[in-house]
Amino acid sequence: MRIVVLVSGTGSNLQAVIDAVQRGALPVEIAAVGSDRPGTYGIERSAAAGLETFVVDFSAFDSRADWDAELLRVVQSYQPDYVVSSGFMRIVGPEFIAAYPQRYLNTHPALLPSFPGAHGVRDALAYGVKVTGCTIMWADAGVDTGPIIAQQAVKVSDHDDEASLHERIKVAERELLLETLAHLASAQDRLTQDGSAQDGGDGLRGES
Ligand code: GAR
Repeated sequence: MRIVVLVSGTGSNLQAVIDAVQRGALPVEIAAVGSDRPGTYGIERSAAAGLETFVVDFSAFDSRADWDAELLRVVQSYQPDYVVSSGFMRIVGPEFIAAYPQRYLNTHPALLPSFPGAHGVRDALAYGVKVTGCTIMWADAGVDTGPIIAQQAVKVSDHDDEASLHERIKVAERELLLETLAHLASAQDRLTQDGSAQDGGDGLRGES
């Protein structure tokens, strides 16, 4: 299963994916890691791990539509089975969503539909909830509105600030992301095996 991972920041969740792939615990190929801005640590750590990287710099485009089109073109050039938003802080356009229906995975540091948006942890703390958590979902055209795949609750402690709570949420988020990717990879594997059985094992589905 080939994935392209999109990041805007430090990419610590991405690092958990890289580590799992490198130790053979996750049967996934990271085809490339991309960002919407230059100079992110997520891209730096990916390059250090020997991965292909790309930047489609949002600020270098005259319009969002142009940026969207270029992002889609570059992502498609890697022919991923799935695209993973791992702290990618930009909404992509409708063409991108249409190109990857239920194939564009997103993570969010709150229990959706509560606290969507760029400040899920801060907003949950400000509201005073005692339990928050993380969500893995399919991205759609809205802000954190896509179908939910998995969630994990995390207790808020009286001593938490945004950073400490986010750090604990990310621990849960990494586990859930790895589980979800492993599940998708094994489903994909079963599909491939079914396809091979149907086509006599040459992968050509009866045509030659
Ligand atoms: C993660 O907690 C992710 O859920 C969040 O950004 C963090 C990225 O951390 N994404 C969102 O808030 C999207 N709405 P990382 O760069 O250290 O992996």
